[in-house]
Amino acid sequence: MPDAVLFVGGGRHQRRAIVRARELGFATVAVDRNSEAPGLAEADAAEVLDFSDVAGVIEVARRHGVAGVLTVSADRAVPVVAAVADALGLPGIGVETAHVMTHKVAMRRTLAEHGVPQPQFAALRTLAEARAALGAVGLPAVLKPADSGGQRGVFRLETWDDLEAHLHAALAESPTGEAIVESFHDGLELNGLAIARGGEVRMLTLSDRLRPPGIGFGVGWIHVFPTTLFGDALEAAEDAAVRAVHALGLRDGIAFPQLIATESAGVLVVEVAARIPGGQMADLAAHAVGVDLVEIALLQALGRPVPDELVRPRFEQPLAIRFLTAEPGPLPTGRVEAVTGLERVLAFPGVVQADVFLTPGETIRPVRLDGDRRGYVIAVADTNLEALDRAEAAARLFDVVVS
Ligand SMILES: Nc1ncnc2c1ncn2[C@@H]1O[C@H](COP(=O)(O)OP(=O)(O)O)[C@@H](O)[C@H]1O
Ligand SMILES: [Mg+2]
Repeated sequence: MPDAVLFVGGGRHQRRAIVRARELGFATVAVDRNSEAPGLAEADAAEVLDFSDVAGVIEVARRHGVAGVLTVSADRAVPVVAAVADALGLPGIGVETAHVMTHKVAMRRTLAEHGVPQPQFAALRTLAEARAALGAVGLPAVLKPADSGGQRGVFRLETWDDLEAHLHAALAESPTGEAIVESFHDGLELNGLAIARGGEVRMLTLSDRLRPPGIGFGVGWIHVFPTTLFGDALEAAEDAAVRAVHALGLRDGIAFPQLIATESAGVLVVEVAARIPGGQMADLAAHAVGVDLVEIALLQALGRPVPDELVRPRFEQPLAIRFLTAEPGPLPTGRVEAVTGLERVLAFPGVVQADVFLTPGETIRPVRLDGDRRGYVIAVADTNLEALDRAEAAARLFDVVVS
């Protein structure tokens, strides 16, 4: 009997990981509240269950006698995975680390205790607390739910009026009714991938995460690898990322540090997730350095040793990822009638992977959330900036007809 692993969540990202897990010889169990979730169809055993029902997920894990539990790219599932692992005595990151790596207020407090550079912050639950928080932090600021993700409920505050305008929406995205205000920092945003093994943290990649102007200011619409940062700033970024992972207590796992390199305040930590990132970051690792994050996550979920060969970059291939978003991105806004051109895009020089998730009838809006990224193009080249040119050019070859 092969070892069975439980996937908490069965969405698009999980689907590919489940396929990979089966290729690697594992039996797979998946839970998702949506019976149509694409991952459920790929798993050897599938259960329709909302994973916020932690006791229910524990029961599924027991019944199937799983030897490991994990999630891919679903931040909300991270505390559930940790709780299931603890309940069954399986390898896991622990509920405390899962909490501080998914709850922005707990994370900021922990990072502050360890002196990790980060924006100023204050927590809030009410309008009165929000006013006090903004008074302490100052304008411009960012308002976000304490425990959500994907840019849902994230707002830039330019004026005091913005606070009242957006407070309700930010609190509404938090299952616990809590939000955080942070000082806003301009700069180059960086995404890292780091692997912790036995308490030793190693950076795998650091890439630029470019964002659109306007309300979508937090959405990563382009990734560029390697980062354009260099010298002391690059060292400071790697140092901040590694220190943050240590501070948050992740000893064995994949970490996704997000940083901003500012002109005046140095490198600041935005957040660090305890999971394989969504948004094609696993593909970035595969194409840029030849590392399979899913295989590493599976071994760690089973408590098996992760050999050096699996975590060491096998090469360094400059690349860029261009997400399909609306203006000023490559997509038009409007109701989708037809989408063609994927073959043309895939045939473009340097393109190694591309996809489009648009379906006829859906409405394309100006980019505001992660979820407004409706496809992507990954291109490689001799340099990162040439790869970006290629990805941009190829992304324009999609033909999207809207009404
Ligand atoms: N303090 C800040 N200063 C500047 N930009 C920020 C700040 N906080 C968040 N952002 C932007 O918003 C994005 C989303 O914020 P983040 O805290 O990562 O929330 P989420 O969980 O939705 O990803 C970040 O990736 C960054 O682009
Ligand atoms: Mg984030």
